[in-house]
Amino acid sequence: MTPNIESLLDQMTLEEQVGLLAGADFWTTVPVPRLGVPAIKVTDGPNGARGGVFKDGPTTACFPVGIALASTWNPALIEQTGAALGTEAKLKGASVLLAPTVNLHRTVLNGRNFECHSEDPWLSSELGVAYVRGVQSTGVAATIKHFVGNDSEYQRMSMSSDIPERALRELYLLPFERAVKEAGVMAVMTGYNRLDGIFAADHQRLLQQVLRDEWGFTGLVMSDWMGLHSTVEGVLAGCDLEMPGPAVERGAKLVQAVKDGLLPADAVRACARRVLQLIERVGGFANPGIPAERADDLPAHRALIRRLGAEGAVLLKNDGLLPLAPKAGQTVALIGIAAVTPQAMGGGSATVNAHYRIAPLAALQAQCPGTTFTHHAGADIHRYVPVLNTPMQLEFFNSLDFSGPVVCRQTVHNTEQLWIDTVDAAVTADAFSARATLRFVAAEAGEHQFSLVSAGLSRAYINGDLAVDAWSGWSRGDTYFTFGCNEVRHSRSLAQGQVCEVVIEFSTGTPESTPIHALRFGAYRVLGEADIAAAVEAARHADVAVVFAGLNAEWDNEGLDRSGITLPHSQNALVARVVAANPRTVVVLQTGSPVALPWLAEVPAVLQAWYPGQECGNAIADVLLGTAEPGGRLPQTWPLQLQDTVGFGNARHYPGVDGHVVYDEGIFIGYRHYQQKNIAPLFPFGHGLSYTQFQYGALRLASTALQPGGELLVEMEVHNVGPRAGQAVVQLYVGDTRASLPRPAQELKGFAKLTLAAGETGTARFRLGMRAFAFFDVARAAWVAEAGGYHVHVGTSVDARLASAELTLAADWVQPV
Ligand code: BGC
Repeated sequence: MTPNIESLLDQMTLEEQVGLLAGADFWTTVPVPRLGVPAIKVTDGPNGARGGVFKDGPTTACFPVGIALASTWNPALIEQTGAALGTEAKLKGASVLLAPTVNLHRTVLNGRNFECHSEDPWLSSELGVAYVRGVQSTGVAATIKHFVGNDSEYQRMSMSSDIPERALRELYLLPFERAVKEAGVMAVMTGYNRLDGIFAADHQRLLQQVLRDEWGFTGLVMSDWMGLHSTVEGVLAGCDLEMPGPAVERGAKLVQAVKDGLLPADAVRACARRVLQLIERVGGFANPGIPAERADDLPAHRALIRRLGAEGAVLLKNDGLLPLAPKAGQTVALIGIAAVTPQAMGGGSATVNAHYRIAPLAALQAQCPGTTFTHHAGADIHRYVPVLNTPMQLEFFNSLDFSGPVVCRQTVHNTEQLWIDTVDAAVTADAFSARATLRFVAAEAGEHQFSLVSAGLSRAYINGDLAVDAWSGWSRGDTYFTFGCNEVRHSRSLAQGQVCEVVIEFSTGTPESTPIHALRFGAYRVLGEADIAAAVEAARHADVAVVFAGLNAEWDNEGLDRSGITLPHSQNALVARVVAANPRTVVVLQTGSPVALPWLAEVPAVLQAWYPGQECGNAIADVLLGTAEPGGRLPQTWPLQLQDTVGFGNARHYPGVDGHVVYDEGIFIGYRHYQQKNIAPLFPFGHGLSYTQFQYGALRLASTALQPGGELLVEMEVHNVGPRAGQAVVQLYVGDTRASLPRPAQELKGFAKLTLAAGETGTARFRLGMRAFAFFDVARAAWVAEAGGYHVHVGTSVDARLASAELTLAADWVQPV
């Protein structure tokens, strides 16, 4: 039954309307049972649907991370992925998915680089539109985020992104604009950041003028979690929903503010209306009630994830060593932690509890039964001392100091606990202490490290001695969305078999209270020279070596940026020494952002596999063995060194000074920056090799004289002249040759991914509207394509040009916003 929303609003008290404007808890809205208004549930987002339990909840399908999805350059496939994610959200009882993340890659150090699509607004928005359409085709609302300028994590809850208007319009807003106009996205999440000094959730111009008035957005705006800092301004700006709940800024405070005349009741009503409209749009009134979470492991989604992993894998370099064709009886030396510990996703709110994770070693063994695969870890990759997958007993007390009775006992299976919302019905969620016990036995002799990270006070005793102290002097640091402390470590030498009885104490009694609580205990043997030497020896005696190098979800993580682009620990030395011992060495990189590759000249083949989700090993094995094409192309320029990147060397530009990060580079980010500054990247934007060869036909323009308001059709034939099927990604860039203001030499305005059998010919087709030629004219508040000459360049990356053509626009085209 379709409710009459105006009549519902008429029947509601002010308190009831205000009640709708904040969540009930972390993931649901407030119902009004008296009037039949149901609650609806939201879930993260973007590489899966996690459901209501932040850690170790019901399992779910884990898809590739945002940058890996973008690497597919395949909107049709991403639309299919969006639809699969909509289905996954429903399995978790949710009707709103908190995705996609479409902030742009401004700095390579952004901790959430992995979650965002691209440095380029066109690529990011094409895929964003497809993603949203797919999700919403299932009746689930997509929530495009984080609106806008949330492009790094340093001081993320308060940093102001000061973005010149032209850059804002041409770059950062575009994925949101297109999702509103072309995909009808139902919800928008504001960023934590301020934009030009005003919190995004309070930003009238952004939320009312740009989003609603100019673009015609009719959906709901929600704050990021704990990202609303006002009672009045946010409502006036049109930030409809404070998340999470229960209300901090709204509730009784907002009722009082209305009564005090600080804002009109109509402003509350407008927000409440949009909450009700969203409930209606996602079918909440028709099917009230939040279904229980299910952990269905769907074969179709397994297959899709495996395909996505290969379609997003970027073959950066190949001197002919790939694909591998190991023969029966041959030996392949696999090296690196990621060969056996699948690096499926990044960290933070995008984390899901995957149904399973396939490791590359297991996948390769399954596909090559006659081949011997050896494995050596070689070098560490972690940021924090690894957690133990070992039973840990916990006793909880409803006091801050272990006094009183034990109110709850738990046995958990790893040494990281994240308490968001509740611990157990018997435990007072925001004032408890806990004692954990576990046993650690040194599997090998050597130097060991133990560590604690906690949102809450913590300390660990080893065999009765206080060994790790994150209790005295605790302060908030970079972990757990910035509510946890920085890691505290302790080292000691252990003999093989030596037993450590560990007791960990935890208390929520921090000087400054934290909205979430977490405890993470790490313990491991430090990898050293002997481990590298063993890996090198294995490589020397193998037919082929494959080194898995990279980062993990602790580096590519929400809440903190990286401090550099060097591969951590001894990984560079490991790769260099392995390839020196065996020139037939492949490097498989798994990162969510670029890293420096100082050994690149020596290594014959490098595959960037990103974080490809639960089918990690299968997708990587498919590409290494050539059963799948490496279909990915870089959605981000790969720099040679950090010094070459946007924001380097000026703290105002990155990470920011006195609460402001100033985007002085304007529109020149990503490849626009490298081209403007004449800096050669290590790999250009759009780069990626195939296992087959293509020949490209002539560039055909339907016309070289364009009228204002017209459209340009461009075509190019692509012929697969190689011996096997493959994928070509043809990219079209536009350049304005005589602009009246600085413009990038080339800007991506179209792309086509073609899958062609051996010998097959296909046609790449591009349709360019006026906006493809326009810049944003700040003085006129209009999109303007100036009369005169333009270049169209078609290539296989921004630097690998196949053909160019010129055309002329007969007169100025001006479109006011
Ligand atoms: C993130 C959002 C996420 C939300 C809910 C925040 O920390 O920035 O992207 O949707 O948490 O988990």
